[in-house]
Amino acid sequence: MTNFNLELIRNDFPIFKRKINGHYLAYFDNAASSQRPSAVIDAEKLFNQNNYANVHRGVHTLSAQATILMENVRNQVARFINASSKDEIIFVKGTTEGINLIANSWGSKITHKDNIIITEMEHHSNIVPWQLLAKRVKAEIRILPLKGGILCLETLSRLIDSNTRLLALTHVSNVIGVTNPIKKIIDLIKSCGIITVIDGAQAVMHHGVDVQDLGCDFYVFSGHKIYGPTGIGILYGRKNILNDMPPWEGGGAMINNVKLPYGTTWNDIPWRFEAGTPNISGIVGLGAALNYIKNLGLDVINKRETSLCQYAQKKLSLIPNITLYSHLNSVGIISFNLGKHHAFDVGSFLDQYGIAIRTGHHCAMPLMRYYKVTAMCRASLAFYNSEQEIDRLVSSLIRINHLLNN
Ligand code: ALA
Repeated sequence: MTNFNLELIRNDFPIFKRKINGHYLAYFDNAASSQRPSAVIDAEKLFNQNNYANVHRGVHTLSAQATILMENVRNQVARFINASSKDEIIFVKGTTEGINLIANSWGSKITHKDNIIITEMEHHSNIVPWQLLAKRVKAEIRILPLKGGILCLETLSRLIDSNTRLLALTHVSNVIGVTNPIKKIIDLIKSCGIITVIDGAQAVMHHGVDVQDLGCDFYVFSGHKIYGPTGIGILYGRKNILNDMPPWEGGGAMINNVKLPYGTTWNDIPWRFEAGTPNISGIVGLGAALNYIKNLGLDVINKRETSLCQYAQKKLSLIPNITLYSHLNSVGIISFNLGKHHAFDVGSFLDQYGIAIRTGHHCAMPLMRYYKVTAMCRASLAFYNSEQEIDRLVSSLIRINHLLNN
């Protein structure tokens, strides 16, 4: 592939020099958390060594510089997802906190008369915050089911009524890798005035996302799945909606004027939703991760990952006993089980060969029930994986099959 030198790219990631149980690491747990290039590790380290201070609080040089660095990353994120303004970008801990922020702040408008739609393929972080909200105000939760492993869109119009206030769904499934037709769904429901929340945690690292083109109201993702640090994520919200939302956490930075005993007023967006000292070095690291991706090119990444995923699906499908659950056009995610062997056994054996996959319910228990299993193995790919690593995965699975069957 032109513009893509795998050896050079793998040199950007120090972890690949490591051996696990005597074997070079084959890392297939990218959907849980991806590895970081030196550019990200160094950016955080240099910031902490040379530029560290708190933001939005000091007149001294370091504080002013740290504030500029942080606000520059906000601009960078806005460009990354084509938000119309940097004010639409809120720094949160990750996808989970972003969704909880919406459920607690925007959710204050929900009453017992209202209903919220979620889907059967959601990660728990896009289920439980809505359940907590529904329980609090006695609202109803309606479920958009799956049919043949994809969302059953015919059902959507039957679920919606004049009391439907919000639809929350994932862009890409963390288990079956399917890309949901977000734009089509939003176009279908736009006229009903339903707010849309898109969980982009498994999407932004694989292809470009344009929130204005999608037409969504909220879009959330995490830094650590996009080659950045943990503890930092992004909540995008449409400006007119954010402006109308109350704070969800109180503290420094989110206020305009604090009075006693009452009468405190709130800061403008986005800072209204950023109480306390943010994860400043995480934000700097996220900026470095976005630069890294930009330099590599999301189109190059997408082409590489598509080709790797097709290679892996084809090779894995030839293993006797394997059940593949992932979608044929999966975005880098391949979930499977090996005969009747428990996913934990398979994952533990693979670890002995230096191969890291995720095993378990993948924080998607309703989806496990849909497939009538309690656990799956999941190999999730990134552009830095190689065909040779996939071959190692396949030959190790064949060996494990043999060992466990005897
Ligand atoms: N949400 C992450 C995963 O799917 C942790 O593995």
